[in-house]
Amino acid sequence: MGRLDKLPPYLFSAIDAAKEKARAAGVSVVDLGVGDPDRPTPRALVDVMAQAIAEPAYHCYPAQRGDAHLKLAIALWLKKRHGIQVDPTRQILILVGSKEGLGHLPLTCVQEGDNVLVPDLGYPVYGQATILAGGEPRSFSLTPENGFKPDLKELDSLIDDRTRLLFLNYPNNPTGAVVDSRFWKELVALCSRRQVTLVNDAAYLEVTLDGSRPTSLLAVADPATDRVIELHSLSKMFNMTGWRIAFAVGHPDVVGDLARVKESIDSGVFTAVQATAAHALGEAFEELLGPVMEVYPRRRKIMVDALSKAGFEVFESAATFYVWCRVPAGESSVDFCSRALDEIGVVVTPGPGFGAGGEGWFRISLTASDNDIAEGARRIGDWR
Ligand SMILES: Cc1ncc(COP(=O)(O)O)c(C=O)c1O
Repeated sequence: MGRLDKLPPYLFSAIDAAKEKARAAGVSVVDLGVGDPDRPTPRALVDVMAQAIAEPAYHCYPAQRGDAHLKLAIALWLKKRHGIQVDPTRQILILVGSKEGLGHLPLTCVQEGDNVLVPDLGYPVYGQATILAGGEPRSFSLTPENGFKPDLKELDSLIDDRTRLLFLNYPNNPTGAVVDSRFWKELVALCSRRQVTLVNDAAYLEVTLDGSRPTSLLAVADPATDRVIELHSLSKMFNMTGWRIAFAVGHPDVVGDLARVKESIDSGVFTAVQATAAHALGEAFEELLGPVMEVYPRRRKIMVDALSKAGFEVFESAATFYVWCRVPAGESSVDFCSRALDEIGVVVTPGPGFGAGGEGWFRISLTASDNDIAEGARRIGDWR
């Protein structure tokens, strides 16, 4: 079987097709499916970009590993915001979105027959990228009993001498679970003992609903010596999903290997976009971030109140813009989500789209307009 044949169907393609069919049939659809912020990029960043785009020096190929000015801004941001010290030239790499970095990472180290540990529940890209690199994704479970954190004993039992990478994602999509520094410490020790490179997908690190600051893996590991890498993204932080700008930070060899893979594939991110990202992470960071995150607690409350009123069990969380919710007993996730679309015109994502462990759950994204959130909550509240 070829590698492409081994890829599972991409979750959101099936959902998009069902949604379009409902729309074509005249249903007024409220889409709470995809996690793509409804609001624009902050005006101040659009203005920086408008100026940057006119700069002729930015019209050439970007620097291969990323613009030095942006990498310095990232290093300063990491220090100030998370207390993390790294060498910007050897430990930071600019990405065309974090999906790109996650997708290319297995190519740095996976040979035919190697395996990679991926969370079940998780963003599907970790497993897909592993398959494309010729490796075998090996799932470990995230269960509600364990607060959607992995069981270290299970991880230890899954690792063998062909395990190359361990993917994690905290704050977690789809559950909203977060981990603390003690958890990271134990995991770093395990990965170092078993010689596995630890990857944290930190796309939601700054997406919090109560002003808290979830712990970065890099604040606990020593990225100068531990084989760790963390991927950060401006997509959700600043409503910039369309801009394609993110960065990887970690051990110099891991970052360097990813840079070498990318050298053969892409030519970096438009320098004007990088200049805008440098501004976003600079002095104005907190002032810019506050208004972006301000809408989510309100939206979550409206949605969770409606869900609770209708008798749904919701996983408590103050991170990410997702609500992770149990399907009523006796119904499968896919059947429930199809019924939500058919009966009340609301698109929600079935849990198994993130792995078999998602059976019995569904995800609501809070990235729809305030009106749609209110309307979706009303329909769900009146439904059952
Ligand atoms: C867990 C997770 N990681 C990574 C990404 C990719 O983000 P981007 O490529 O826009 O940085 C997403 C997007 O939804 C995500 O949910």
